[in-house]
Amino acid sequence: MNKPFSEACENNKVPILEVLRSVIVSSDRRLLEIGTGTGQHAIFMAPQFPHLEWYPTDLSDKLPGMNQWFQEARIQNIQKPVRLDVAKDDFPKVKFDVVFTANTFHIMHWKDCKSFMKLLGNRLRENSRAVFYGPFKYNGEFTSESNAAFDQSLKERDPLSGIRAFEDILSNMIKNGFEIVADVDMPANNRMLVFNRLKFEKHR
Ligand SMILES: C[S@@+](CC[C@H](N)C(=O)[O-])C[C@H]1O[C@@H](n2cnc3c(N)ncnc32)[C@H](O)[C@@H]1O
Repeated sequence: MNKPFSEACENNKVPILEVLRSVIVSSDRRLLEIGTGTGQHAIFMAPQFPHLEWYPTDLSDKLPGMNQWFQEARIQNIQKPVRLDVAKDDFPKVKFDVVFTANTFHIMHWKDCKSFMKLLGNRLRENSRAVFYGPFKYNGEFTSESNAAFDQSLKERDPLSGIRAFEDILSNMIKNGFEIVADVDMPANNRMLVFNRLKFEKHR
């Protein structure tokens, strides 16, 4: 099996790292990555945060490919990847300080995005952070023509996929106990949304 490769990961890893540096603090111990894909982000970023254990996860079909990268790279603080389908699975039963996901909201069906945000609310404790990288729509508008074309191509492949509305994500995150602390403009018409878990209580 050829090792999977994402050119997009190579292009966006440095800007994403810059934002993660402002989000991750020295007392953080564990980061959960959802939809790790090839593993290129984990391999590039985990060594920059040696105090953290990086937990890669994805659907089962992605695990062999990322394992090839991880076995080659031998990064000390990357844990063995596990299957985590946000529609079916719970988070591993350890305390996570940060949950990071890149380019997954437009792939996952909206009901699965909502399951993911509910899981975040149930599993993260006060001052833990959730970080979402990718393209989003604002006020019903795409932020560029290329994002509009991308959304169309996604829907041709899977009508239930597509670029999500920032406002829908924000309202779901608030409902699940988070506040938004940053919405960062990223290269290539992407955004990085950073949420902080408020004091744990029943928000729904
Ligand atoms: C476009 S890829 C992004 C991969 C990687 N994060 C990146 O930025 O290159 C979307 C990823 O979301 C994963 N994914 C799709 N549905 C999922 C679900 N229900 N639960 C967890 N991951 C899912 C896919 O398997 C895929 O790896």
